[in-house]
Amino acid sequence: MTELLHRSPTAAPDAARVRLAAERVRLAYDENVVVDDLDLELAEGSFTAIVGPNGCGKSTLLRALGRLLRPTSGQVLLDGRAIAKTPTREVAKVLGLLPQTPVAPEGLTVADLVARGRHPHQNWLRQWSRDDEAVVAEALSWTSMTDLAGRPVDELSGGQRQRAWISMALAQGTDLLLLDEPTTYLDLSHQIDVLDLVARLHAERGRTVVVVLHDLNLAARYAQRLVAMKDGALVASGSPAEVLTEQLLAEVFELEARVLPDPVSGTPMVVPVRRLR
Ligand SMILES: Nc1ncnc2c1ncn2[C@@H]1O[C@H](COP(=O)(O)OP(=O)(O)OP(=O)(O)O)[C@@H](O)[C@H]1O
Ligand SMILES: [Mg+2]
Repeated sequence: MTELLHRSPTAAPDAARVRLAAERVRLAYDENVVVDDLDLELAEGSFTAIVGPNGCGKSTLLRALGRLLRPTSGQVLLDGRAIAKTPTREVAKVLGLLPQTPVAPEGLTVADLVARGRHPHQNWLRQWSRDDEAVVAEALSWTSMTDLAGRPVDELSGGQRQRAWISMALAQGTDLLLLDEPTTYLDLSHQIDVLDLVARLHAERGRTVVVVLHDLNLAARYAQRLVAMKDGALVASGSPAEVLTEQLLAEVFELEARVLPDPVSGTPMVVPVRRLR
């Protein structure tokens, strides 16, 4: 039995339980405040997509939720506990974060990169095991990266590299998955592959998922909840149908657009008309 495919959630999903929360967080780079006074709650087993224009603070927020960036005020709570006071290894066992532009050490192979996803689960008592081997093999296979396992990450194409990093995040086997634009660089069928995979982890394994996505139509298809950001603030949150309105697209993206039902999924489908202003 390997963790990626066969592990059951440790507890029955309880929609009311908050796994991850930002409480009045202010996020800044030196003096430059990017996000201010933001509140967000992510329920156990939820699938959320964060959308918003370039530079509005999506990655900054995701990094704070994943403990890579410390709020200058307010706090992030993981399972009700201040994440800043939770040891890195403990966080890494339950929360996996795929950054927008991860950088691998020079020459590191795909297999070694993906194996790093297992590090939080190891210690001097529990060394590399056959289970770890199986999880890594499975993560590679799920992203169609098995044949490229021996290749150095820095010699891959943009899309192959992205899939290698997704494999690593999957191999980490965490209950919480935060993915910053996981479909960037991917051709359309690999985009669908990745989102289908994430959707399966959500539906079958009860994983709590947060994805930053620019493709609003895919965001509406896959996520149960959309969170729209503008200028570091959260401007809307709700079901795709509640959030993706023509008015919101004008306000947040400065875009005149029509919103029609997606002929395949019935979720909102955005058809751009022209840029406003
Ligand atoms: N490391 C950094 N140092 C200083 N400023 C930064 C840093 N990272 C981001 N910023 C600034 O913070 C703001 C928000 O950036 P962020 O990366 O969170 O945006 P984003 O919503 O993820 O955009 P995109 O859609 O382009 O990825 C931007 O103005 C950006 O220039
Ligand atoms: Mg970003």
